[in-house]
Amino acid sequence: MKIIQISDTHLTGDDRLLFGSSPGQRLAAAIDSIRRDHADAAFCLFTGDLAEGAEVAAYRRLADLAATLPMPCHFLPGNHDARGLFRQVLGGGRAYADGFEQQAVDTRFGRFLLLDTLRSGSASGELCAQRIAWLDRQLAQARPDLRFWLVMHHPPLPVGIPSMDQYALAEADQLWECIAPYRDRIRHILFGHVHRAIGGSWHGIPFSCTKSTNHQVALDLRSRGVDVPGGHEAPGFAVILIDADNVVVHHHEFLATGPAFLL
Ligand SMILES: [Fe+2]
Repeated sequence: MKIIQISDTHLTGDDRLLFGSSPGQRLAAAIDSIRRDHADAAFCLFTGDLAEGAEVAAYRRLADLAATLPMPCHFLPGNHDARGLFRQVLGGGRAYADGFEQQAVDTRFGRFLLLDTLRSGSASGELCAQRIAWLDRQLAQARPDLRFWLVMHHPPLPVGIPSMDQYALAEADQLWECIAPYRDRIRHILFGHVHRAIGGSWHGIPFSCTKSTNHQVALDLRSRGVDVPGGHEAPGFAVILIDADNVVVHHHEFLATGPAFLL
């Protein structure tokens, strides 16, 4: 099974430039790449920061672009998103878990649990008691051989970039307490927020973060101010290959140009 992760599209309502590049044009280029080379993907996960600000036109632009993909798309909010607009445009009339954008997506390789870590008015992530309780029910009520994937915007661990680590998930300990009894059944955690291609493990559970489709966070391991150092490293999305035994995460830099050659 192949799935796609797109993150941190930061669309603007009038497609004005953001840090010198067009979020809409870049997402359109990413979608062209997916349509061309990955039309066989089972679904596409959008892991938050879909719009830069609370502009309904930005969400409509995203909905229009996503509708050109041949596979289903699932959306999660990030700290830049406005829950009301997100729901109005991307909700599809679905009923939400306890008022949050959480949902379970079943596949032949397990259940993807999409967690809503948006805390309105904050750049940091939040998983309140209600959201943790939903996750706990999903884990506890599943048949004992079912395996899980966690998908969220905010990372549950510091990634070593202090300017971003200050805006990580605040309730990481509570999340771990909830999932620890099931840790052997959790195959992977996918998140965004950090605008970089990162892989590793958290309490032994593999994780990956993919790039923004627009602008990137610098690999600055020292700066500790409230502002986040950024840069225009190549944008990307993740192509994730899954079978019964393996998970492989490719980060594709979809704007790369230049001659192709055989080596
Ligand atoms: Fe972001």
